[in-house]
Amino acid sequence: MERRAHAMLFPFPCSGHINPTLKLAELLHARGVHVTFVNTEHNHERLRRGAAAAGLRGREGFRFEAVPDGLSEEDRRSPDRTVRLYLSLRRSCGPPLVALARRLAEREGAPPVTCVVLSGLVSFALDAAEEIGVPAFVLWGTSACGFVCTLRLRELRQRGYTPLKDESYLTNGYLDTAIDWIAGIPPVRLGDVSSFVRTLDPQCFALRVEEDEANSCARARGLILNTFEDLEPDVLDALRGEFPRVYTIGPLAAAMHAAQGSGHGGAGPAGLSLWEEDAACMAWLDAQAPGSVLYISFGSLAVLSPEQLAELAWGLAASNRSFLWVVRPGLVAGDRGADALPEGFLAATRGRCFIAAWCAQEQVLRHRAVGGFLTHSGWNSTAESIWAGVPMVCWPGFADQYINSRYTCGEWGVGLRLDEALRREQVAAHFEELMGDTGRAREMRRNAARWKAAAEAATAPGGSSYESLGRLVEELRLGDD
Ligand code: UDX
Repeated sequence: MERRAHAMLFPFPCSGHINPTLKLAELLHARGVHVTFVNTEHNHERLRRGAAAAGLRGREGFRFEAVPDGLSEEDRRSPDRTVRLYLSLRRSCGPPLVALARRLAEREGAPPVTCVVLSGLVSFALDAAEEIGVPAFVLWGTSACGFVCTLRLRELRQRGYTPLKDESYLTNGYLDTAIDWIAGIPPVRLGDVSSFVRTLDPQCFALRVEEDEANSCARARGLILNTFEDLEPDVLDALRGEFPRVYTIGPLAAAMHAAQGSGHGGAGPAGLSLWEEDAACMAWLDAQAPGSVLYISFGSLAVLSPEQLAELAWGLAASNRSFLWVVRPGLVAGDRGADALPEGFLAATRGRCFIAAWCAQEQVLRHRAVGGFLTHSGWNSTAESIWAGVPMVCWPGFADQYINSRYTCGEWGVGLRLDEALRREQVAAHFEELMGDTGRAREMRRNAARWKAAAEAATAPGGSSYESLGRLVEELRLGDD
């Protein structure tokens, strides 16, 4: 009798990791894999309290479980809560994961855990998988180019490119140094390889965490990426020289949509969100003309200074066009949100601006009224925009966002880049250019339509991502046989 695969999935507990892992869980379940999705107790509680709580009840063959994250309330309020969370999970989360897998094995009706699927930043779960005695797979949540650049951080450090000698290196042109030796990646600026090269810290804490986490993927049985073959062929070729089993199954949003369309998989828990989504923004979009609205969001982690917020706000206000802006609580330094918008801004943009604390981004991007996306170039957002066929204005600020932005504007021809130092004049000019009718805008729209079609083809039956997911399921099923 064929053994039923049972995947235990454990993402780093932030939206940028939870969202793609939930989608992968849903896709695996739709292909017959038994799924246990493990949240931290803190997030489990947040989800339980949220509007999406119904999804948490799970279904036949799809369960949610939780393990403690070990953080105190003081840690949670700290500005460096993400670092504290990372360290705390490393310290304390392995044994509860192993214990959970053993408990699941004793439960009636569920097959024993046959594999662990983790996201980036939780490499300690590789040890847990070893202890459980099952293979591990890593869903690294960035583009392939983002992953390869992170892998090469070690070499950049060893060759002396980073850490920077002093603060002047941030602005004296040093970050423009050409890096032309990363296999699979075209010549790029040093500053675009990763935000982590900008460190002045002689210990390079964040840099070392990133490089260690990426390099630890070599210990996994396979590497899963939310991208598709046609989007990044050269870098995927190069990557396969180091990682023999790379599964490109994205864009995940498109794969989910295709699975729902074909009846493989319902809306499911992939719609779970740590934040409450503002439904009113969809009604507002319904009333706008096709392609007329710029959507603006900086994901779940970015923090802007009040000065940056003001430059953005007045740049958007100057354009005279309509926009939907996600200003989540915590987007502005000092744990502030929409209350930090400059005085007079809402009055100046009344009737053409909608501010939401959080929204159903995939639906927003697919809405006919949305014609452009001002983004921080987080990979989930970028992949969702590519799938929706929406051109972007990119303002990267962290981690892989610089290389995503470089590819969006350069390789894929679907974006305009803002300078690092935000200026309202440039915000207004890029807004105009993206949404207007210049030759460049038309070309970006043509490219975006082409990538949208390619993303749909990759995730449709017979497409490269569809087939790659099939191979992954096969591999999960084989386990250690
Ligand atoms: C993090 C890192 O910052 C990013 O560099 C990396 O590529 C992925 O992990 P984050 O900053 O949250 O992610 O950005 P992003 O990857 O774009 O993910 C944000 C997710 O939140 C997207 O799936 C987006 O659809 C969702 N979102 C965002 C909403 O559902 N509603 C919103 O209002 C805003």
